[in-house]
Amino acid sequence: MLEAVLPPGIRWHESFGDVPGVLPLPEEEFVVARAVPRRRAEFATARWCARQALTPFGYGDVPILPGPKREPLWPKGIVGSMTHCDGYRAAAVASDDVVISMGIDAEPDQPVPDRVLNSVALPGEQAVIYGLLRDRPVVAWDRLLFSAKESVYKAWFPITGRWLGFEEAHVTFGDGVFSARILIDSPLPVFEGRWAAEGGLIVTSVVVQA
Ligand SMILES: CC(C)(COP(=O)(O)OP(=O)(O)OC[C@H]1O[C@@H](n2cnc3c(N)ncnc32)[C@H](O)[C@@H]1OP(=O)(O)O)[C@@H](O)C(=O)NCCC(=O)NCCS
Repeated sequence: MLEAVLPPGIRWHESFGDVPGVLPLPEEEFVVARAVPRRRAEFATARWCARQALTPFGYGDVPILPGPKREPLWPKGIVGSMTHCDGYRAAAVASDDVVISMGIDAEPDQPVPDRVLNSVALPGEQAVIYGLLRDRPVVAWDRLLFSAKESVYKAWFPITGRWLGFEEAHVTFGDGVFSARILIDSPLPVFEGRWAAEGGLIVTSVVVQA
């Protein structure tokens, strides 16, 4: 599924469930030592996906620890992103010669509660989303907006080291693509993304090419 939203040159791996017997590496254990089983499983499977994707780079057995803001710390020369939601785990990585930063996000293709849309969408975005939900109900556009913004954040953070609020980017959608205009001081005025919806899931990506 991720293939639909990633350009060539990116290695990725996805799983539509947890892989039996897959555990965090010993170095990663402390991160989820006190986590509930569901969190341990998503953590372990997404990292297993990451190591599958990293294998061609010679990093198929490296621990991937979280940084101070939970961002994954990739091996030298690698950029990447991970996501997990019910029924889906995935990771994508690339050489930093090819890609500066990337974010991927997966969500169930289901509406978000109104209060969530209110906190995620700017007034102008909300009007567009309600129009799309009415006129073109091919995807849960409100959930897609949420996912697009999370992908933007995952690509934004490694570049800036800064927080970006949902109200600080304005997203517009096309067929399988989106643009996020950043409304605060930013090294890039716009982050370009892609989206796909299939089999009850939404995936989004933002890839900042070198
Ligand atoms: C960090 C965040 C984007 C994660 O999204 P999510 O839908 O909750 O969860 P996902 O499963 O898709 O992704 C989780 C993974 O994101 C990655 N991640 C977490 N923090 C990150 C950061 N600061 N930068 C990059 N990646 C990050 C991690 O790999 C994490 O998985 P792990 O904890 O198992 O390692 C979300 O929790 C968040 O804080 N959002 C608020 C900021 C935001 O989205 N702003 C919108 C700006 S337009």
